[in-house]
Amino acid sequence: MMKAVYFNEYGDREQMIFGDLPVPEPGPGEVLIRVAAASVNPVDWKVREGRLKMFSGRKFPLIPGSELSGTVVSAGSKVKDFKQGDRVFAGLSHKGGAYAEYVAANPSKIITIPDELPFIEGSTLAVAGMTAMQAFTMHYRVKPGDEVLVNGASGGVGTYAVQIAKILGARVTAVCSEKNTALVQDLGADEVIDYNREDFRKRKESFDVILDAAANAFFPESRHCLKKGGMLIKLNLSVNLIIKAIFLRLFSSHQLKVILVKNRKKDLRWLITHIVSGQIRVVVDRVYPLSDAREAHAYSESGRARGKLVLEIS
Ligand SMILES: NC(=O)c1ccc[n+]([C@@H]2O[C@H](COP(=O)([O-])OP(=O)(O)OC[C@H]3O[C@@H](n4cnc5c(N)ncnc54)[C@H](OP(=O)(O)O)[C@@H]3O)[C@@H](O)[C@H]2O)c1
Repeated sequence: MMKAVYFNEYGDREQMIFGDLPVPEPGPGEVLIRVAAASVNPVDWKVREGRLKMFSGRKFPLIPGSELSGTVVSAGSKVKDFKQGDRVFAGLSHKGGAYAEYVAANPSKIITIPDELPFIEGSTLAVAGMTAMQAFTMHYRVKPGDEVLVNGASGGVGTYAVQIAKILGARVTAVCSEKNTALVQDLGADEVIDYNREDFRKRKESFDVILDAAANAFFPESRHCLKKGGMLIKLNLSVNLIIKAIFLRLFSSHQLKVILVKNRKKDLRWLITHIVSGQIRVVVDRVYPLSDAREAHAYSESGRARGKLVLEIS
């Protein structure tokens, strides 16, 4: 048996149980990982609430958590690229599995991580890191000199986004509350807007791209602060937003993109290289034991996290 956090029905934090479940039995094409750390992301409590049933399904008990770092315990007979003892990162689907001592994962979701990358930081690569990276390299290609605005700059995605936009040569404006000003300046932000004092939407034609990690920038209000051809990137998928995005593509010089992070090993390697070389700092706000996953969800749900939250498991 192993310790795990799980729930037997969708609902509030009270549904989260810390208890014993059988250790997963990996198939011949799978890898069994002893989990060292699991990252806590807003998507975890959205899954718990049942908002993403389409992706998370209805099979219970459901162990939340979609990204983790750990050590390979065993690799199935068909697995070529991983062996016992490898330090790895794994990005899972919304069906979860990371809030547990062990997880069985498909090798396509796993990448080895170097000894220089600690497990805590190494558990946060996909959901926050890769989302920020893909926003600025796949969906909008940030060029040197671009004016980039990161709304929600002090959160999990935002702290990665500010640093990645700087690496790509942009001038970065970060939006956060006053208490987080020093943090985002330290990460490289050229200018900080305290959202309690100034509404960035009132600036005229100022930005080439806005990454809206705070989920409160909408068209048409945010349109005036984009330069001609500029793009607003949203992270919260909805049918309404997708229709708007199609409409704007046809009738406006501004673009709206609603993005969903893709598990790409190439992007994970890019992130790992930049973290290990010190160009990207993984900002970890709080580390909890697995038994305190409920508290971690409560803090994430408060919307006040500064950088990443992580469960330290073994
Ligand atoms: N589509 C995808 O693939 C994808 C991937 C990753 C994340 N997401 C989504 O992206 C969103 C952000 O994720 P996250 O991990 O960065 O969340 P997070 O870490 O919980 O974000 C917390 C941060 O948001 C800031 N914030 C709260 N209200 C704000 C406001 N009105 N204006 C500006 N900043 C504000 C807070 O700063 P203050 O305390 O200073 O207010 C805090 O530092 C979530 O909704 C998540 O589900 C989507």
